Amino acid sequence: MGMKSTQVQVLAVLLLACAVAAQESAGSEAERRRLLANGLGNTPPMGWNSWNHFHCIINETVIRETADALVSTGLSKLGYHYVNIDDCWAELNRDAEGNLVPRKSTFPSGMKALADYVHSKGLKLGIYSDAGYLTCSKTMPGSLGYEQKDADAFAAWGIDYLKYDNCNNGGSRPTVRYPVMTRALMNAGRPIFFSLCEWGDLHPALWGFRIGNSWRTTNDINDSWESMVSRADENEVYADYARPGGWNDPDMLEVGNGGMTKGEYIVHFSLWAISKAPLLIGCDVRNITGETMEILSNEEVIAINQDPLGVQAKKVRMEGNQEIWAGPLSGYRTAVLLLNRGEEDSEPITANWDDLGIPPDTLVEARDVWKHETMKQYLKNELTTTVGPHACKLFILTPVMPAQ
Ligand code: GLA
Repeated sequence: MGMKSTQVQVLAVLLLACAVAAQESAGSEAERRRLLANGLGNTPPMGWNSWNHFHCIINETVIRETADALVSTGLSKLGYHYVNIDDCWAELNRDAEGNLVPRKSTFPSGMKALADYVHSKGLKLGIYSDAGYLTCSKTMPGSLGYEQKDADAFAAWGIDYLKYDNCNNGGSRPTVRYPVMTRALMNAGRPIFFSLCEWGDLHPALWGFRIGNSWRTTNDINDSWESMVSRADENEVYADYARPGGWNDPDMLEVGNGGMTKGEYIVHFSLWAISKAPLLIGCDVRNITGETMEILSNEEVIAINQDPLGVQAKKVRMEGNQEIWAGPLSGYRTAVLLLNRGEEDSEPITANWDDLGIPPDTLVEARDVWKHETMKQYLKNELTTTVGPHACKLFILTPVMPAQ
């Protein structure tokens, strides 16, 4: 039975609609890939940010002296390259042409001069704006409606990193506002690391990788144990979404700000390292103590964070106060963190190969990256160690090939 001409017409229209839809989705897919093509963030970013220690009390001297200190302490050589200015760097009002104006009383030399200085030290300069009408401090404008103008200014100044906050946005969705800045940065033509600071409100791990190099998964951290471990927990849920080029961000480091013990700061740095979180120092590097240096400059822990495989560790076992976090590293190695969340007692904690995804009976060499010691005995099927209250141990396990 043949089709009537009206049926043929309906079919033709339907086919055309399908073809258009297919083309559109291919177009937007290509567009999405193009959005991300800045080539940055193949490993989590490392550097410093002004907010956790200085809040709004910043000026160009603090930024220059911090750049100097990153170099003189040796931290820059370990990978801490970004010097990131947070909120409160601009005048409340744009100029007559609509440009952002660096605050005259605190940044009188302007951002180009500051970027030149930071670059002359072999470092990179980061800046802050907001996908809203005002930033969170309400002391300076956000970039909503001015994305291209601001991105062009950032590129012209030589900015290398943009943290983009989410305050005072008029209520529209971040998935609408953030990609506009992504496109503006791409148009501006300078590779600028794009850090989405949306606080995890709309599960940015699910869409952030298309438009940014990192995305906050949590509200702001403060300098306390409870705040720190809860950020790590909230961030862990999204482990599967981290990958080279795009990272979950549980907020910046508080190490060295004084609110936690040394053992707690070691837990903080260890959790951030294995979670492939940005390692953005949040203390006053100009007055850094030996103890804080010891933590932030542990090259073995940094190497876990910067491992080329780029896989975020997960919580693989929880029992009472005890937790095991683990994740694969390059070269068939495994990073394993044994954490005691209890407040009072030391506890023996056991990580089984089964929990870690290591095949049974595999012989393993274990290196304690805080003690900088390799265990004399090879291990089989489990690692047991005693861990103090609010403390952790962090090991790299390397399989040992049986002798032929
Ligand atoms: C928000 C962000 C913080 C910081 C402040 C600045 O709270 O989440 O990281 O940038 O704004 O006002």
